[in-house]
Amino acid sequence: MTGQTGSIDAVASLLAGQGYVSSRALSTVVFLSLKLGRPLFLEGEAGVGKTEIAKAIASALGRRLIRLQCYEGLDASSAVYEWNFAAQMIAIRTAEAGAKSGGGADRDALKAELFTEDYLIERPLLQAMRPQAGGAPVLLIDELDRTDEPFEAFLLEALSDFQVTIPELGTIKAPEAPIVILTSNRTREVHDALKRRCLYHWVDYPTFDRELEILRARAPEAQDALSREVVAFVQRLRDADLFKKPGVAETIDWAKCLLALDVVQLSPEVISDTLGAILKYQDDIQKIQGSEAKKILDEVRKGLVA
Ligand SMILES: Nc1ncnc2c1ncn2[C@@H]1O[C@H](COP(=O)(O)OP(=O)(O)OP(=O)(O)O)[C@@H](O)[C@H]1O
Ligand SMILES: [Mg+2]
Repeated sequence: MTGQTGSIDAVASLLAGQGYVSSRALSTVVFLSLKLGRPLFLEGEAGVGKTEIAKAIASALGRRLIRLQCYEGLDASSAVYEWNFAAQMIAIRTAEAGAKSGGGADRDALKAELFTEDYLIERPLLQAMRPQAGGAPVLLIDELDRTDEPFEAFLLEALSDFQVTIPELGTIKAPEAPIVILTSNRTREVHDALKRRCLYHWVDYPTFDRELEILRARAPEAQDALSREVVAFVQRLRDADLFKKPGVAETIDWAKCLLALDVVQLSPEVISDTLGAILKYQDDIQKIQGSEAKKILDEVRKGLVA
């Protein structure tokens, strides 16, 4: 382990250097995951910085980021490797043409040649097992809850020994375990067996102070007074009865929209006109628009003065 990640504080400032504002608890779990070489499993609401932290770790450590985006129906061939059938077909046709003109194709030799690395398409899990110039890569397995249980079981095995067996080629083993980060939006529970291999952290919505710090890092051009109003307003909205609460991503987007409109201070009109940056469901927008926006804004102003 390098001095860069030798303590919790070092990890926090490494992340801060990438514009990532981490809580103490998150810095701790990242530190431990790096130190113990354990996968890190992050769950939390949408837009709270789960994916971003993998990017921040990779770029801070100068490692390659390899991302496996999960989706329903994701299977091993899309996650690990596939044979390039098209290229194999061309090779077969070429060999056949050669045979007709008297070359005499040797079936076994052809078969051996078709299943070599030249015809292998490497998908993220296999890529992550390969040596990389800057050191072991960061493997981001994003939105794991979108896949199904068979894939999870398969993943469990891949993560336990960091090796992949390709029947035609043999076993490929990572020279050094990748830094693994798994994320989930918890649309379903991920199996205990997989969780047990990982360090777990629930990424919560940030506190007012931390969200303000994030906004300063991500939208530094915003005036402090506006940033405070924006953060306080969004924090209040998260307490409201909404179908979909705004994440940090929405706070940043909203601030950028307001900047684009040259807004220096919130008003009920401005809020109503720009609610689409923070709320993405018409029912939620209707609920907040108008008098409710004014009421929340008044509360926000009172809170900020106090
Ligand atoms: N702690 C943080 N520090 C800096 N930026 C942050 C932080 N949290 C969130 N962000 C910003 O919010 C945006 C959304 O974060 P990210 O995409 O990582 O969310 P997520 O948790 O992966 O959401 P989803 O579940 O929707 O994929 C990022 O582009 C990042 O700029
Ligand atoms: Mg994400």
